[in-house]
Parts: sequence; structure tokens; C-alpha cells
Amino acid sequence: MERKKRASTVVRDTTWVQREYGWEKWPDILSKIKRHIASGERSLSRVLAAVMREELGTPSLARIEAISFSKHVQVANSLVCYGFYALVAEAVIAACGENTQAIVDLGCGWGRSLFEVWLRGGPSSPTYYGFDLTRAGIDCVEALAQLEPAMKVCTAEFDFYHPDYSSLSRPLEHAVVFTVSSIQQLPAIETQTYNAILDIAKAIDCLHFEQIGWQMHPGKRTAADREYALRNDYNQNLWCVLSEMSSAGKIEFCEVEPDVFGMQGIYPLTLVHWRKAQ
Ligand SMILES: C[S@@+](CC[C@H](N)C(=O)[O-])C[C@H]1O[C@@H](n2cnc3c(N)ncnc32)[C@H](O)[C@@H]1O
Repeated sequence: MERKKRASTVVRDTTWVQREYGWEKWPDILSKIKRHIASGERSLSRVLAAVMREELGTPSLARIEAISFSKHVQVANSLVCYGFYALVAEAVIAACGENTQAIVDLGCGWGRSLFEVWLRGGPSSPTYYGFDLTRAGIDCVEALAQLEPAMKVCTAEFDFYHPDYSSLSRPLEHAVVFTVSSIQQLPAIETQTYNAILDIAKAIDCLHFEQIGWQMHPGKRTAADREYALRNDYNQNLWCVLSEMSSAGKIEFCEVEPDVFGMQGIYPLTLVHWRKAQ
């Protein structure tokens, strides 16, 4: 696919991502996690909540312009901050079944969604996998996992461009795989590369929360989202890859909800839930 670029200073390559997340954002989160643990806090949910509060800003009734089902709405800051991660966790939990053996967060960052799934009552028997490009993100997940011995957590440094799923203990009957604003970080992903997800387990439910509504419905309504994606060198072809895989009979769409939620007035997240075709 030919990527159309606007005048942009951003080249979202591995060096960029390692700087932004590997050296700046996630080490800062790691030091927050360590500070809370060093102060004597031993509850995963309390550390997670405290870190999220510091990261997102104190929740409040301040009105934020957000997006809900493509519509611009004003929402209290607290709902924007916490509602979205609750939505992600509930959708992941709903995709789990009795035979689910792995819950895999690809591009997990510091692991907030992975732990949110567990804390909201995600199934207790599967292993929870946190995969990310950055060592700092993985260090955060490992530090948090120590607070919750009952949760089986496994981590690995992982690159979507060269996917290696060998740290998953296989064979797996059923895996729930999800991404939250992580494929966003790949300006373009090859179908071949993405296809490797299909080898993770015999049955797979995959949920993407990614900002791709503008790819699905190009036009005037989504033009600003497209501009934003191009300006920041965010992903430009995930929907194209998924559509190809669906046309090839490799996956079936279970739920597609464009522009379901945006924490700001632009570039909202879309939910795409697909299942591996049997
Ligand atoms: C916006 S953050 C989202 C993190 C997490 N999913 C969340 O919702 O908090 C993007 C994440 O994608 C990861 N990432 C970027 N490029 C990646 C790649 N090529 N392979 C794996 N992870 C990548 C970054 O390290 C970062 O943790």
C-alpha cells in the first residue's frame, strides 16, 4: 500500500516509539509504580488506580469534549478517563469462554488494560500475556504482576513488525487477543505479518480498539481524523488488512463499531472484534 503523507515531522518508526514509550512515558510510569509499592501499598487495584489518576489527571466533573458513536459530546472528565478502560475490559471478558487459556494484550504498554480485565473479574485460569516493544512497558507489567500472585502473568518484548509468539505456552484451545491504541503506532502493517496472529491458538477472538473509523468511512465527516493520523504518522491500513483477511475467509467479523469512543474531540477509537474462521 502506498502511504499518503502530509507535511509531517513525525516518522513513527521504532526509534520514535522507543523514545516516546521506552525512554519517556513508561519509565515515568514505572517510577510511579515503584514509589507506590515502596510506600507500602500491596493492592494491585489501589496501585493501578493511583497510577492512572496521576497519568490521566485527577478525575473530575470538568467537561471534556469527547466522541461517542461518532457524535461529539461533552462528558465529565472522570467518565472519559475510566469509562473507556472499563469498556475495553468488559468487551475482553465477554469474549472469553470456558476453554480460554490465554488472554493476550499486544502492545500492552504498562499493562493497565490487562490488569483491568483481571480486576473486573476476568477468568482466573488463563494466563494473561503482556507483550510490548519496550522493556520499560514490560518492567511495569512485571512490577504490577508481583502484587497479584493468583494472576498468571507472562511477559515478552514483542515487535508487531517481526511477530514472535513463541513465549505463549501452546497448544492453545482458545485465546482472546486484544490491542488498545497499539497498532495505531504502526503506520502500515503487512497482511502477511499480521496473519501470524492466526497461529496463536486453535480458536481466536481478537478485539482491536484502534482509531480506524476514518479508514472504514472515508469522507468529509472523518477528514479531520484522517489528517490527524497522517500528521502523526499513525496507522493507515489496519482496516484494509482486516478486510482482506475477511475476504480471504480467514476471519469472521463478530462486532464492528466504528468511532465508538474518543477521549478527545478527534480521532476516536473503533472496536473491531473478529474470530478465526474454522
Ligand atoms: C499508545 S500506547 C498504548 C499502550 C496500551 N495498549 C494502553 O492502552 O495503555 C502504544 C503502545 O504500543 C507499543 N508499540 C508501538 N510499536 C510497537 C511494535 N512495533 N510492536 C509492539 N508494540 C508496539 C508501544 O510501546 C506502546 O506501549
